[in-house]
Amino acid sequence: MRTLLQALVALLLPVLFLAAAAPARAAADHVYDFEDGTTQGWSPRGDGVSVAATTGAAHGGAASLLVTGRTANWHGASLAAPFVKGVTYRVSAYVRLAAGQPAATIALTVQRTPAGGETTYERVAAATVTDGAWVRLAGAYLFTADSTDLQLYAESDDATGRYHLDDVVLAPQGDPTREPIAADFEDGTAQDWSPRASAALAATAEAAHGGTRSLAVTGRSASWDGPALNVLGRLGKGDKYDVSVWVRLGAGVDSGRLGLSIERRTAGTPSYEQIVPPTDVPAGEWVRLAGAYTLSRDVDFLSLYVESDTGTFPFHLDDFALTYVAPKPIQTDIPALKDRLPFTLGSALTRPDTFGVHGELLARHFNGITPGNELKWDATEPREGEYAFADADDLVAFGERHGMTIRGHTLAWHSQTPAWVFEGADKQTLLNRLESHVRTLVTRYKGRIAAWDVVNEVVDENQPDGLRRSPWYEITGLDFIRTAFRVAHEADPAAKLFINDYNTEFPRKREALYALVKRLKAEGVPIHGVGHQLHLNIEQPPASSVEDTIERFAGLGVQQQVTELDVSVYTDFVSSYDPIPGELIAEQGHRYKELFDVFRRQAAHLTSVTVWGESDDVSWLNTWPINRLNAPLLFDRDLQAKPAYWGVADPSKLPPRVRRLEAPAGEIVLDGKRDQQWDLLPDAPIARVGEVSAGFQARTTAAGMYVLAEVADRSVSAADRVTFTVDGVARTVTRLGGHKAAARPTPTGYRVEALVPKGTDVDVTVRDGGTAVSWTGKVTPAPAVKLTTAAHRAPVLDGVAEPAWRAAPEIRTGTWIQGASGATATVRSLWSGSTLYVLAQVTDPALSEESPNAWEQDSVEIFVDPGNGKTKGYTDDDGQYRISFSGRLTVGGTFDAAGVKDNLRAVTRTVPGGYVVEAAIALPTATLRPGTLLGFDVQVNDATGAARTAAVTWNDATGRSYLDTSHWGVLRLA
Ligand code: XIL
Repeated sequence: MRTLLQALVALLLPVLFLAAAAPARAAADHVYDFEDGTTQGWSPRGDGVSVAATTGAAHGGAASLLVTGRTANWHGASLAAPFVKGVTYRVSAYVRLAAGQPAATIALTVQRTPAGGETTYERVAAATVTDGAWVRLAGAYLFTADSTDLQLYAESDDATGRYHLDDVVLAPQGDPTREPIAADFEDGTAQDWSPRASAALAATAEAAHGGTRSLAVTGRSASWDGPALNVLGRLGKGDKYDVSVWVRLGAGVDSGRLGLSIERRTAGTPSYEQIVPPTDVPAGEWVRLAGAYTLSRDVDFLSLYVESDTGTFPFHLDDFALTYVAPKPIQTDIPALKDRLPFTLGSALTRPDTFGVHGELLARHFNGITPGNELKWDATEPREGEYAFADADDLVAFGERHGMTIRGHTLAWHSQTPAWVFEGADKQTLLNRLESHVRTLVTRYKGRIAAWDVVNEVVDENQPDGLRRSPWYEITGLDFIRTAFRVAHEADPAAKLFINDYNTEFPRKREALYALVKRLKAEGVPIHGVGHQLHLNIEQPPASSVEDTIERFAGLGVQQQVTELDVSVYTDFVSSYDPIPGELIAEQGHRYKELFDVFRRQAAHLTSVTVWGESDDVSWLNTWPINRLNAPLLFDRDLQAKPAYWGVADPSKLPPRVRRLEAPAGEIVLDGKRDQQWDLLPDAPIARVGEVSAGFQARTTAAGMYVLAEVADRSVSAADRVTFTVDGVARTVTRLGGHKAAARPTPTGYRVEALVPKGTDVDVTVRDGGTAVSWTGKVTPAPAVKLTTAAHRAPVLDGVAEPAWRAAPEIRTGTWIQGASGATATVRSLWSGSTLYVLAQVTDPALSEESPNAWEQDSVEIFVDPGNGKTKGYTDDDGQYRISFSGRLTVGGTFDAAGVKDNLRAVTRTVPGGYVVEAAIALPTATLRPGTLLGFDVQVNDATGAARTAAVTWNDATGRSYLDTSHWGVLRLA
């Protein structure tokens, strides 16, 4: 009788033997053993071939894959290979011929198509194989170019040979952090996903993004409850991963936002980071949440999950993928930017930027840094008196290691400040909290942080006193500013103390900030410098307004720094490109050149220029104000130099610039005077070189093209001249005029007008001795810019067209931007004081406000641009004022419409066959006087039920009036 022990040993022996014989397999290995009776993703390669799991022969276990029906050498069994670029794999497999087959050479081969190249075939392993024994094929495989259609297959030099394949192992070398993770739920399981709390997860065939199944998520207990994947050990510190997952709302859910987040814990303390912020998921649609993540700390817990911003609605998840992104090495054969500039070149950074190639890029090109978030109040003092400095310390240490100058950002701000700071605070309490905070931070980094943004964004040029109505201001007036500077100065007398703000390049904001700094200095507040954030865009504002700002503050005797420079490729808050057109990226290079020309010229007043991030992949503008691809910085997403880089380092390497300009129909008197016609549009700027700059415009007429150059050049010389070259034919005009041309002196230089032949390719070159500035690009004809007049009187705002209105000329909407017929309006304008009045008499027999969207209701929109700036994108005081037939008001402007939202009043009245809108629009930022020109347009939206079925404007034919002011008409005040 066998003892129990003997029985156990007998049972276990084969298992132990197997365990000893089999090579060690890591969790991340791909293993194909066919033990489940399926082909495990292997499929026939070639017509007539079949592959099937069989128990007839097996290397390990009981089954293998049998390949039959081959008629060509390249026929066989094939697998869509899970190989990842840049990862080396050990590949091994066992092969044996079917009984009776003659010996043959069996090979494992990879077929692959590199991007833009021809399909390649790479042999991984091969051996002579017989029907008498299992033979091991083994080799390594790596590919490094972006490729598609990767297939691993087994082929034989015996065209008809039948064989068995078993125990195929694809083992990524190195560590599991290079191994991709995927989930498709096609096997009917939740595939390693588990609920964060009590949600129910189940693979379901109810909906699928790819294949036939997805993961259904139901019964969520909170917005953060849902499917989670443990990725501990799978992400390398400092490595970048692309993460992507498809989501869809559950049946019956009609709206919701879903995002992708990660929870990490260090020493048990959790932190939550959004990889993709909650994004709108329209009912019935699959939406991809895709982002990149870099783990920047040592962790003992790491979990990726999908959550909603609010609600516990059910949803589906499918086709998840997480892949390691092998970094491109940074370029080492290009000049280090910091060596080429007469001031410190800084970059904002966050902790992940200190690792790997990002860290290398920072160290190579920058000699300054600003922690992007780590010194803000929410990061440093989340609860009263509980300070957290781990991240800030780390970044400061990084800066010191690389000999960089460190900016501290920021001590008092209305944003990223925890609610407790203001809670129950009377003035003294708030100032006490501020004092402790400022003293703690500045003392901690005394001697290490050279400059502090003591207060951030405190100016609001739309307030009568120019000060932002933040809780700081509401509770303390100006005292929070005084306290913050005083305490910072006490804590580190050597630190340079800055007031920092955005839009300082716009005249109204510039002046409001100027007045504040002047006042604080006069009071003796220890304010040493002004920080210009300079969040700009590809069109706006011109480099000259940045220069004007620097020159303005130079007179105050303060240091200046550019603190957050970036140049968005977008001019509005809704558009998005993917990919971003190369032409814009090239244009941006010229923008950067013009800006750095200004900075170099003004270097005596500037101690540093900081860009808000070292490379496009880390820019905040990828998620603000909406999620969209943006490319606002000097290096691209792969950390390679962009034209923007060359614009700073060596403009001679910039691609040629091709500008575009419309030449509306218009008549000009050639006398060197600036006709009102020219004032309908702004001059296209030609940036300054030396002491010369200029502006350019064109108009089309039957006889040719009128051109205008407004030249700023104070030194009069006989060599001063402007050459207009149209399609290769040049015409030169001096200060004295010329053929079909006129010239006249102006306070800053001279003006030239000429009539030249019509054409497309235009070059305007302005010369002053050896210096030349030019504009080169394409000019296209366009319809005339419409002009109307507002009479000077005030109506009674009652929805009645009293006789006063007859003083103003009537205009009519007739430019269809949707449909070709429908509601229209006749419109008249009056003005008085700083208010514009508009009367619109609308013909529209059927009125509807059914749509929840204001622009799809029967309504009138009035567009007003107080400076007639004709900018692409809205500036602060540009407004879109909408009045529905029933008197509902909606106002659009820059993204929060802060500068215009309170400007509109209106009375409406329905009348037989339509309605009347009488509107009053306050224009506090403009000085209204006879002759003033306003950018102006009117649009009528025609609703049928819940849809807009037609829309018509007075002037703008683009359909983009709500985004772009450049095609509005002009209103002149009489
Ligand atoms: C931004 C950061 O870059 C983002 O990561 C954060 O989510 C929001 O704040 N003006 C400022 C900076 O003064 O602090 C802002 O930084 C960008 C605008």
